[in-house]
Amino acid sequence: MLMMMLLLFILCFWNIPSLASSNPNINCLVINLEYVNCMWTEQGNQKHHYTFEFRFANYDQLKCPKYHKMNGVNMGCVFPYTETQRFSSLDTWLYYNNGSLATKQTHQLKQQVKLYPPYNLTVEARKDTELWLYWNVTQNKNCIESEVRHRMGNMDWQNKKPSNINFFSLPFPSKKRYEFQVRARVGSACGESKFWSDWSEPVYWGPSKPNNNTDSPVSMSMTSVVLCTVGATIMLIILSCLLVHSERFVSYTVFIPLFIYVYTFKHLLSLKFFRKKC
Ligand SMILES: *[C@@H]1O[C@H](CO)[C@@H](O)[C@H](O)[C@H]1NC(C)=O
Ligand SMILES: *[C@@H]1O[C@H](CO)[C@@H](O)[C@H](O)[C@H]1NC(C)=O
Ligand SMILES: *[C@@H]1O[C@H](CO)[C@@H](O)[C@H](O)[C@H]1NC(C)=O
Repeated sequence: MLMMMLLLFILCFWNIPSLASSNPNINCLVINLEYVNCMWTEQGNQKHHYTFEFRFANYDQLKCPKYHKMNGVNMGCVFPYTETQRFSSLDTWLYYNNGSLATKQTHQLKQQVKLYPPYNLTVEARKDTELWLYWNVTQNKNCIESEVRHRMGNMDWQNKKPSNINFFSLPFPSKKRYEFQVRARVGSACGESKFWSDWSEPVYWGPSKPNNNTDSPVSMSMTSVVLCTVGATIMLIILSCLLVHSERFVSYTVFIPLFIYVYTFKHLLSLKFFRKKC
């Protein structure tokens, strides 16, 4: 009798996971508060070609406008999203080929938001005692919280406390090379998301790496190089012309344009766009 009950017990629990796993699982993420991406995964090796429908609370039930496909099989669906749908629930349905329902699932998308990473990161030195980092976020910045991380050379990352402002200052930087990255998410003031964006492209400050890394961060843009070369050549031609024509003014003709040239070049070098990657 005891053996029978034990056997029944084992059989029941053995069966529950396999019954539950026959339903595909639907995962939905709001991308950059612009659209929703739902993907379904099937346990086991059965491959059904599902069709997908969705409905936000108080809206109509709609067919999937655009599927993600792999080898011709529907794997996911992308559909539009508006900010007014932030706090409403989302119902989703998957149907088999023969039209019968495979699963219906309900999602709360409030915390399921993933933003695009911050962009346009810019580093500036202020009076040699502070480095300032600025960036842009991809959505309404009052709602967005950013986290900065930075490191010197190959040392460990230092993560700063997330905050709503889109600048960061680092006092008394050393003369080493710094690397900065920023990521963003919808902050607690607007219904915090569980997901951070990916880290932004890095920006660098300081001397370029001493090793043979070809990825030099402090490099001039191609246009600037061309402009500078053309400028220098014109200046040289003018100088030689003047030299040939009037030897008396040698001292003026050499030193005044040279001074202007050096000054302009130095000024150009200090512009921050020179610090960006080409
Ligand atoms: C439709 O197809 C599914 C999966 O192949 C099957 O489980 C279900 O019984 C079918 N329904 C009908 C009404 O044929
Ligand atoms: C990039 O940053 C600069 C300087 O902070 C700013 O003037 C410019 O408008 C930004 N560009 C974009 C596309 O936001
Ligand atoms: C990008 O950030 C800079 C610096 O904070 C700011 O001046 C500029 O207005 C921002 N641009 C956009 C498009 O938000």
